[in-house]
Amino acid sequence: MGEMILEARNITKYFHDPVEVKVLSEIGLKINKGEFATITGKSGCGKSTLLYILSTMDTDYNGELFIDGEPMKGKGEAELARVRNGKIGFVFQFHYLLNEFSVLDNVMLPGLKLNQYPPKEIAQRAMRKLDMLGIGQLAQRKASQLSGGEKQRVAIARAMINDPCIIMGDEPTGNLDKNNGEIVFNLFRRLADEFQQTLLIVTHDQNLPPVQTVLFRWKMGKLWIVARSCNNMPQIFIRKYFGNQFPFLTQH
Ligand SMILES: Nc1ncnc2c1ncn2[C@@H]1O[C@H](COP(=O)(O)OP(=O)(O)OP(=O)(O)O)[C@@H](O)[C@H]1O
Ligand SMILES: [Mg+2]
Repeated sequence: MGEMILEARNITKYFHDPVEVKVLSEIGLKINKGEFATITGKSGCGKSTLLYILSTMDTDYNGELFIDGEPMKGKGEAELARVRNGKIGFVFQFHYLLNEFSVLDNVMLPGLKLNQYPPKEIAQRAMRKLDMLGIGQLAQRKASQLSGGEKQRVAIARAMINDPCIIMGDEPTGNLDKNNGEIVFNLFRRLADEFQQTLLIVTHDQNLPPVQTVLFRWKMGKLWIVARSCNNMPQIFIRKYFGNQFPFLTQH
């Protein structure tokens, strides 16, 4: 097993308004460096709720969360913001790019906010990320002049700018057509393979391309680990080898 990047233990979450509802019940998961993990499940099962907790944006839960080996419990908002800015990259369903800004400026923004490098170096780093994602030639375009698929790739570059330990995405392909969705999933896979980038992507898309290395699925109110490949073997291998029924369904 590789180095653990994210671990959640017994995460339980209630919403109180208008009545008390338990949305997450003792959820646990572990993700190692360089793994490309996806969480799938029906609408309303609690995927986004869990992701907000795992990304430290929601602190109102019971259970334990470790990011890069560091416990998140008891940390104040300022410290959590530091963890979020430096260690977590986030890709949303809607790209949230600033339309009137250039692609390069959009990608640089979280780097300028973290203020770890001078702006010139942040610009160079941003260019490298855009090149890695095959969109370097779009750097000077305004975000408003891009296609949906291109915008989402820029959003991924922006999530990568501070070299996060983990990139999290809440349905990052939810607004894309099948072809662009596959392009994005294959890019994620490449980031994991070539750059050891750890990824956790939430989706309710049952037709996602089988490129992830760890697959979690929601069933009967619990999160199950359906498959975890050895040596980052892609899911397509696991499916060919074990068939689509995943005989080793185990609770994580
Ligand atoms: N602020 C809130 N107050 C009360 N209930 C909420 C709140 N936010 C979400 N819920 C409920 O919690 C459950 C889980 O919601 P969540 O958004 O996590 O689902 P999801 O799995 O992400 O669904 P989808 O695939 O549609 O995005 C749902 O039943 C939802 O109605
Ligand atoms: Mg959701």
